Amino acid sequence: MSFIVAIDGPAGTGKGTITSLISKELGLVNIDTGVTYRCVALYAIRNNIKLEETQKIINSLKNIHIEMKNENGEQKVFLNNEEVTKEIRNKEVTKIVSQVSSIKEVRYKMVELQRKLAQGKDVIMEGRDITTVVFPNANVKIYMDADEKIRAQRRHKEMQEKGIQMTYEEVLKNIQIRDKNDKEKEIGALKIAEDAIYIDTTGLSIEEVKDKILNIIKESRLGTVPNRKQDREK
Ligand code: DC
Repeated sequence: MSFIVAIDGPAGTGKGTITSLISKELGLVNIDTGVTYRCVALYAIRNNIKLEETQKIINSLKNIHIEMKNENGEQKVFLNNEEVTKEIRNKEVTKIVSQVSSIKEVRYKMVELQRKLAQGKDVIMEGRDITTVVFPNANVKIYMDADEKIRAQRRHKEMQEKGIQMTYEEVLKNIQIRDKNDKEKEIGALKIAEDAIYIDTTGLSIEEVKDKILNIIKESRLGTVPNRKQDREK
C-alpha cells in the first residue's frame, strides 16, 4: 500500500519548493499536479485554441499525453514525448491555466491521471484539491497558506531567477485572479479540508516549514497526528 502526503494551498505558498526538498529527504516521489493543468493550457496555446472554445479543449484531451519523470527529486514534465518542464511555467500558460483547470472534463481526466501516477508508490503530491478530491484519505493532509503580498513577492523572485519577465504588480494581479478562480471553481475548488493541518508560512523560512512538515510526517508514521484544524479548535 502506498503512503501519501497530500498538500494543498494557493500559488506562492512554497508548496513546490517544500515538496521537492521533502521528496529528496524522505525518498518520496514528488508529484506537482499543477503541471498537468499547465500541459493542457500549453497544448491549447500551441494549437491556437482559445479559452472560450471549451469544447475544442475538451476534444483535445484525447491527444494529450502527459508523463512525469523524477530525477534526483526534480520533476521533469513531458507533453506528447517532448520535455516542457520550463515552457509550462511561461507567462502565457500562467495567465490561462486557472480557467483551463476549471473545465469539468479537464479536471476528471487530470484527477484520473494524478491517481494513476501515484499508484503503488510513496508520494508527496501538491495542488489545490489533493486533500479533498484526489486523495481525501491520504496519510498526511496539509494546507499551506500565506499572505498574498508575500506570495507575490516569492513568485516574482522565482520568476526573475528563471528569467521570466513579469513585474511584481503583474504577478500580484495574476495571483489575485487565480486565487479567486481557484476558490470559486464548481468542482475541485481550493478549500481547507476538515482534517487537514493548516500551516501559515507568512513569517516562516523554507527550513522552518520543511521541518514542521517533516515532523508531521514522522508523527503520522508513528500513528499520532498532531495539530489538525479540528483538534486545535476543540
Ligand atoms: O500550482 P500551479 O500554480 O502550477 O497550478 C496551476 C493552476 O492549476 C492553478 O491556477 C490551479 C490549477 N490546479 C488545480 O486546479 N488543481 C490542482 N490540483 C493543481 C493545480
